[in-house]
Amino acid sequence: MAQQEVLTSHPFNNVTENIFSKIGANLHRRQNHPICIIKEAIYDFFNSQRPGTYAKFDELHPVVSAAANFDEMLVPAGHVSRSPNDTYYIDADTVLRCHTSAHQAATLRQGHPAFLITGDVYRRDSIDQSHYPVFHQMEGLRVLEPDEYGGDPAAGAAAAERELKELLEGLAQHLFGSGTECRWVDAYFPFTTPSFELEIFFNGQWLEVLGCGVVEQQILDKNGFEGRRAWAFGLGLERLAMVLFQIPDIRLFWAEDQRFLKQFRAGDLRTAFKPYSKYPACFKDVSFWLPETGFTENNLCEVVRGAAGDLVEAVELIDAFTHPKTGRTSNCFRISYRSMERSLNDEEINAIQAQVREELTAKLGAELR
Ligand code: DAH
Repeated sequence: MAQQEVLTSHPFNNVTENIFSKIGANLHRRQNHPICIIKEAIYDFFNSQRPGTYAKFDELHPVVSAAANFDEMLVPAGHVSRSPNDTYYIDADTVLRCHTSAHQAATLRQGHPAFLITGDVYRRDSIDQSHYPVFHQMEGLRVLEPDEYGGDPAAGAAAAERELKELLEGLAQHLFGSGTECRWVDAYFPFTTPSFELEIFFNGQWLEVLGCGVVEQQILDKNGFEGRRAWAFGLGLERLAMVLFQIPDIRLFWAEDQRFLKQFRAGDLRTAFKPYSKYPACFKDVSFWLPETGFTENNLCEVVRGAAGDLVEAVELIDAFTHPKTGRTSNCFRISYRSMERSLNDEEINAIQAQVREELTAKLGAELR
């Protein structure tokens, strides 16, 4: 079987052709691409803090075991992120990683006490200008030496937290300019205690830019760093790039369009993206009765993405009601189509919309109204 068939033919499989086609694009390794520029800037910062300390990985394959993606990171059975509504499964035991944390345990087992891992991650999600089913994350981790904190475990955890916060605040200044305001928000991740999110104040609002914390002791104990203490973080590169370069739509990262690509230069964090003319959007509403069970917005978005590829800009629920007598629920979604590159014509949009309508019935069991 061709590799593509292997990756899309298992009965449990929910990886569409559209998603499959993104594997290997490696935006984070293309020189002068904004995602790569951010990656390099973060590398520079960490190198400046502790030269030679961090091992860097950016070629780890996104197909990983469910064990690596979830179990080794202590994600509990039944956690929403394990659901095939949220994660792409190739078969029951194999997924497209939904975070770069999928490589944390194995990298520790290889004996690396400090590392930065960059890669593409995949999540089934709703569709709008800041959500795309593939995006890029960087995972960072450092195990502290006992002599850095005098050997006492509690002191070690406190030292790890202190270093983590100092470093990430420094990173925010490095990327967004000195004087950038930051704040820490308590969070929950199965793999850290305590856990935090960092928010930065940018253009008048607080933005969440990363998750982090003190690594769960079990993860270190089981993977070759018994009794040690460590911090870790995971940050989204698109999020940072959109804010930093003022990129209005996440699909632009995927556009092989010189008007986009030629605006960015390796090493330059101060580019402000100049939008080229925006082509008109075309809106199509679709109303249907939901099947008795199993309908989700993510499933609808997958169907739309499959039919429209990157021509879909947003999918939005605009009306919902339940019939008082039959108890059936009706939804109306508005689908916005817009190309980043050209004007769309009615014919092609009508053909896409017809396919969406057909698959809503055939694949999702909806009844069109
Ligand atoms: N994996 C988390 C996510 O995708 C981000 C994250 C949070 C990574 C805390 C970490 C961490 O390593 O310690 O949302």
